[in-house]
Formats: sequence, structure tokens, C-alpha cells
Amino acid sequence: MNQQGGESDGRGGVEVSKDRNGIEQVILRNNRGASARVSLHGGQVLSWKTERGEELLFTSSKAIFNPPKAVRGGIPICFPQFGNRGSLEQHGFARNRMWTIDKNPPPLPNESNAKPHIDLLLKPSEDDLKIWPHRYFEFRLRVSLAAEGYLSIISRVRNVNSKPFSFSFAYHTYLSISDISEVRVEGLETLDYLDNLYQKERFTEQGDALTFESEVDRVYLDSCNTVAVLDHERKRTFVIRKDGLPDVVVWNPWEKKAKAVGDLGDEEYKQMLCVDGAAVEKPITLKPGEEWTGRLELSVVPST
Ligand code: BG6
Repeated sequence: MNQQGGESDGRGGVEVSKDRNGIEQVILRNNRGASARVSLHGGQVLSWKTERGEELLFTSSKAIFNPPKAVRGGIPICFPQFGNRGSLEQHGFARNRMWTIDKNPPPLPNESNAKPHIDLLLKPSEDDLKIWPHRYFEFRLRVSLAAEGYLSIISRVRNVNSKPFSFSFAYHTYLSISDISEVRVEGLETLDYLDNLYQKERFTEQGDALTFESEVDRVYLDSCNTVAVLDHERKRTFVIRKDGLPDVVVWNPWEKKAKAVGDLGDEEYKQMLCVDGAAVEKPITLKPGEEWTGRLELSVVPST
């Protein structure tokens, strides 16, 4: 039991254990009983639960929990690319690698150490350096759970004195929803987006809110820092706050694509919606010694 940021009543805190496949995982709990689970495989958040034990993230019933592939669900980290250009694997390698616990992370400005949290670290392996040459980076990830149950994820990517490099990024967040036809996304109105279903052609969002009646695979550009996902049936709203992440990816595979994705049940597209804080259109470039920070905060509030 490794207590970091543990609270005084003994219930809140941080526990490191192994999952059924022997992969290290970290469970964060706050005083009120909300929790989050983070796997060292991919640094992926696999569960985020309210104090009543309700799961807020979707994980497929067909998910494969054996590395190297990322689990279908939770919050896979897409780095150093979002998408599938060039020789890098789709959505980058970070989600497929084993991360380590960072015992001595550099201080994080404006961030309290009092809440339950875990710091993880990813450095490139020799193989990563072959597919992404000369990019010596350090990727530091902090996942924390606030007293109110908010889930916060902070990524810091540093260029460790290699030549300048660029990357794109996304927190590929699989929200658990009642039914895709009952859900709408607010905060993307009037924005331009790149539509992956039309060779990344640029369109402008016309609707008041985004609703779903077929496959959606878009990158909304330069959004404001708050997006809301309203679930009418469950009477709850996810609030997504982001910083350092200009774009928002919205993905639902719908019926046909769901059937083609091996680790997703045929009907499960109805219970999931990916809404990602992301930096896709304009890659982030780091010169030697520079660092980038991208923050995501997820909360859930009751709604009608
Ligand atoms: C989306 C992409 O964001 O992620 C889709 O735009 C892709 O095209 C999806 O199918 C899931 O990707 P993956 O690699 O996790 O199956």
C-alpha cells in the first residue's frame, strides 16, 4: 500500500496492485468513496467511479487486457500522434507501452499534492527511437482525484535535448452513456471541424448542439476550454475542461464500424461516446529543453 495524498480518515488514498494479467495498476480513492483506476500499461485510466460506485467511463465487454494493444475503453493516451500517418502506429505508441511510477517528479505549478494522485513516466525505448528517430522525450503524467470526485489528468512532454520535434495528442476519452440517441454535446457550435469520414475535409458546425444518428469521426478546431456532454436518460452531464488542448475529437463508430472493430461488441456503440481534449490540427513543436503541458479535468453533474 503506497499512500500518496491519502486523507486522514483512512479511506482515501492510493493503492498500487496488480491486475489479473500481472500488470501494475493504481487505484485512487477520495474520502467520499469516488475512485479511479490507472494501468501502467499505456498510463491508461480504465475506471472512474462516483462516490455511489457508478462507472463513468466505458469499457468494451470484448476489451483485451493483454499488452501490447490498448484496452478498448477508458482514456487511452494518443501520443506522439493522433491518427495514422507515416511509420508510427495508429494514435502513437504511448498507449501501448509500459509506463513506470515516477517517484520524484518535478513540481507541478498550481497543483496540490494533497489529493490522491499518481505520477507516471514514459521515456522512449530503443525501438521507439527507431520508429521516431532522435526524439528524446520524457512524458510525465499525473492522474488525480479531487474531493468532489473530479478526475484530473495532466501531461507534460519535455524535449530532453534532442533536435526539435513535433507531435499531436489526444486524451481518447470513452464516456459511458445511456444511449447514443439520448446524448448531445454542447460547446462545439459554430466551430470548424475536420471530418475523417470525408478525407479530413473542413466543414463548419451548423447545429445548436451535436446529436447523433450515424457515425461521427471529427476533429473540432480551436474550441473553448469547456465542453459538456448531456445524457438525458441518465440525467447527468459530463463537463470536460481542458487547457493546452485546442481541439476536440468526437467519435462514435455507429453500427457498421462497430461490427468491424474486433474488441467492440456489435451493439456497444450505443453506450459509448469519445469526446477528447486534443491537439491535432496544429502539432506542438518543442525545442531542446522545452516542455508542453496539456490538462484535462472531467466532472459529472446532475441535469434534467
Ligand atoms: C478515432 C479515429 O478517434 O479513433 C477513428 O478518428 C478510429 O478513425 C478510432 O477508428 C479508434 O481508434 P483505435 O486505434 O483505438 O481503434
